[in-house]
Amino acid sequence: MTVTLETIKSPIAAEMEIFEIRFRDSMRTKVLLLDKIMTYIVKHKGKQIRPMFVFLAAGMCGNITEATYRGAALIELLHTATLVHDDVVDAASYRRGFFSINALWKNKIAVLVGDYLLSRGLLLSIEHGDFDLLRIVSDAVRQMSEGELLQMEKARRLDIDEAIYFEIIRQKTATLIASCCAVGAASVGAGDEIVKRMSNLGEKIGIAFQIKDDLFDYSNEEIGKPVGIDIKEKKMTLPLIFALNQAKRKEKNYIINLIKNKSENSQAIAEVIDFVRRSGGIEYACQVMEGYVRQARAILCNFGDSPYKTAMLQLIEYVIKRKH
Ligand code: IPE
Ligand code: IPE
Ligand code: MG
Ligand code: MG
Repeated sequence: MTVTLETIKSPIAAEMEIFEIRFRDSMRTKVLLLDKIMTYIVKHKGKQIRPMFVFLAAGMCGNITEATYRGAALIELLHTATLVHDDVVDAASYRRGFFSINALWKNKIAVLVGDYLLSRGLLLSIEHGDFDLLRIVSDAVRQMSEGELLQMEKARRLDIDEAIYFEIIRQKTATLIASCCAVGAASVGAGDEIVKRMSNLGEKIGIAFQIKDDLFDYSNEEIGKPVGIDIKEKKMTLPLIFALNQAKRKEKNYIINLIKNKSENSQAIAEVIDFVRRSGGIEYACQVMEGYVRQARAILCNFGDSPYKTAMLQLIEYVIKRKH
């Protein structure tokens, strides 16, 4: 049995409760439609692992401060903004087991809602002079946009190799998790070297996190968001890249043709999924993911023992064992 989020949260349970209130407060608006959508978003909240990373990193490096709370809210606001935008970009109609914002209110509104969340995050930091935190997070947001665009460029040409795949997921996902750990450390006054080490830790975890997310696309289980959607969007992820590299030329061309020309056809998607499974792509991606987890654990060895560190280790375990 995998460790639950409840267990992992135990050293930061009080902080997470206060966080939730602050997070909701930071989204308040007088615009009725927007308020309705904010209520919907809060009601269908996600796992909130990013604020957990912020608090655990902070706890590992010192005493949790007001700036830690603002850092956690800033990151969850930006994360929520990117998901709202991501579902427009990916034409995904559900998220977190419910309809996505674009499915309920259409793309135009979803784009503006994402912008609103982004601006509220930025204002929260600026109003309190958290410029060091803002610098860390803004750089992550820049890289996330670059990563998403690199992914789109590659999806058009279907010429992605492993090196490019890792660059995409590092940029689009790992940088934000790296910034969670860095912000946590910086918010309690840790020095540059510790902040950097925390950032490296988050980057390793973030890469493992996205490999896991990409594996969900091949799963038969209900994960709260659409499956098979990556192939449909011509996104080549690690299991598929590996499988194509293993295949004979003829089969490779056949599969690439399916992705290129038939990705709207669910039969063709099922064929690609079957090909990846037969080729050992799933096992391969799992091994690579575990390699990143080992690297993350090695970085943690350099920190003194504490309940926060124990929970951090459990959270890493959760990232690769989670069911959604
Ligand atoms: C989803 O992140 C976006 C990715 C980087 C794959 P999460 O799985 O953390 O999303 P929520 O917030 O829990 O829904
Ligand atoms: C996640 O990307 C969103 C960002 C990292 C910005 P994906 O499109 O791969 O993630 P899901 O599967 O929709 O959550
Ligand atoms: Mg996407
Ligand atoms: Mg998506």
